[in-house]
Amino acid sequence: MAAGLPAGRRIAPSILSADFGRLRSQIGEVIDAGAMIVHVDVMDGHFVPPITVGPLVVAAIADLVHTAGAVLDVHLMIEAPERQIGEFAAAGADVITLHQEATPDAGRALRAVRELGCLAGLAIKPATLAEVVPGLVDDLDLLLCMTVEPGWGGQEFIAASTDKVRRLRELLPSGAPIEVDGGIDGETAPRAAAAGARFFVAGSAIFGTPDPGAAYAELVAAAGAQ
Ligand code: DX5
Ligand code: ZN
Repeated sequence: MAAGLPAGRRIAPSILSADFGRLRSQIGEVIDAGAMIVHVDVMDGHFVPPITVGPLVVAAIADLVHTAGAVLDVHLMIEAPERQIGEFAAAGADVITLHQEATPDAGRALRAVRELGCLAGLAIKPATLAEVVPGLVDDLDLLLCMTVEPGWGGQEFIAASTDKVRRLRELLPSGAPIEVDGGIDGETAPRAAAAGARFFVAGSAIFGTPDPGAAYAELVAAAGAQ
């Protein structure tokens, strides 16, 4: 059974912007600074243009993350995620998040994630209406609201995202946390937090700096996180 989500507001460092030549030591830096969620962006060259990493990389970092008591949060930006979720669960993912836009039956895919013993996350792109969510609330453990177009780190936070997070907060049961992903920094994290987000994915604001541990701590303070 996969590990559960940590309580409270949390910053989730995204390894997309890390130096992959020394990936484990980069993850160690944010874990030593207190990170309890490590976010992995999986891209297939179809759902989004870039190709990043797959289950082999998840498996290569799973022990490091789990030994620290942290959670591996795997964000699948891939077509037909239902074909791949078994491999990511076997590799050590705790949360498997798939896109509503990437599968003909998101509810079925989310239920399959839970059947594998993982927490099921539903991600929606900026243009996808919050109103897709009510029909899926029984099948999800987390809602990931993209606050940039998926596919690349270092983009600017879409300002209208805060209103969308507020709307999502109204539509979701109180137990289902909202994770924001894209353009999160010391200025946008507090805005997303005020709108009701609980998890804040940050890539370039952490791993794009010379001291990822210190950058993580600064974001924790900015977001009023733990
Ligand atoms: C983008 C990814 C994000 C990415 C965020 O498609 O889902 O997780 O790492 O990068 P920043 O924090 O640089 O916007
Ligand atoms: Zn992501």
